[in-house]
Amino acid sequence: MAELEPVWPPRPIMTERLLLRESEARDHVAFVDLFSSPEVGTYIGGAQPREELERKPETSWRRPGVFVVELDGEVIGMVTLERRNDGPPDRVRPESGEVDLGYLFLPEAWGYGYAAEACSAALDWFARAYPGESVVLSTQSANARSRRLAVKLGFTEVQYYVMWDAEQWFGVWSPGTPRG
Ligand SMILES: CC(C)(COP(=O)(O)OP(=O)(O)OC[C@H]1O[C@@H](n2cnc3c(N)ncnc32)[C@H](O)[C@@H]1OP(=O)(O)O)[C@@H](O)C(=O)NCCC(=O)NCCS
Repeated sequence: MAELEPVWPPRPIMTERLLLRESEARDHVAFVDLFSSPEVGTYIGGAQPREELERKPETSWRRPGVFVVELDGEVIGMVTLERRNDGPPDRVRPESGEVDLGYLFLPEAWGYGYAAEACSAALDWFARAYPGESVVLSTQSANARSRRLAVKLGFTEVQYYVMWDAEQWFGVWSPGTPRG
């Protein structure tokens, strides 16, 4: 995402239990595991075939805004902050594009608060890099885990809309919002 480039890559970010860093060629296997997982794909268009993912160039994951999340040296997921426009037609600032938060973790890492810890750190980084700028998030309404996480991070509901044949929840986060 071009507009994150002046501040990208960030220095690795340490949290209580995790490390967030830009992605590297060695993360290819972890990305294949993530995107080929049926559980991970449930609300994001389904699992992608491993062979197709394996054929992707290793560099395809390496772009500004993609944080890899490590626990004890192992990749457990990713957090993304990317400027794009795949939300509802009347987004908060449609004229300039908005930064969306995304998160995908391997199923064995769910239920420990790792996603919340990693996303909080990424939002803190973003708030320092782009003071005053809001972040938006779209997630399928049926994706209960994701919605719980969004609310915990301080995203507030703006609207529902239908895309990809499913109802989507659209929320916005502003710097300084308290987290639950
Ligand atoms: C969405 C997703 C990241 C949520 O993961 P998660 O592990 O449920 O989220 P959190 O990090 O907030 O963890 C919350 C859980 O950890 C538990 N937990 C355990 N220890 C904890 C701790 N030390 N701190 C905080 N929470 C803790 C919480 O009680 C909660 O459990 P619950 O789900 O039973 O209520 C995960 O389900 C995922 O990767 N899904 C597939 C990809 C996807 O759909 N992404 C959204 C696209 S928009």
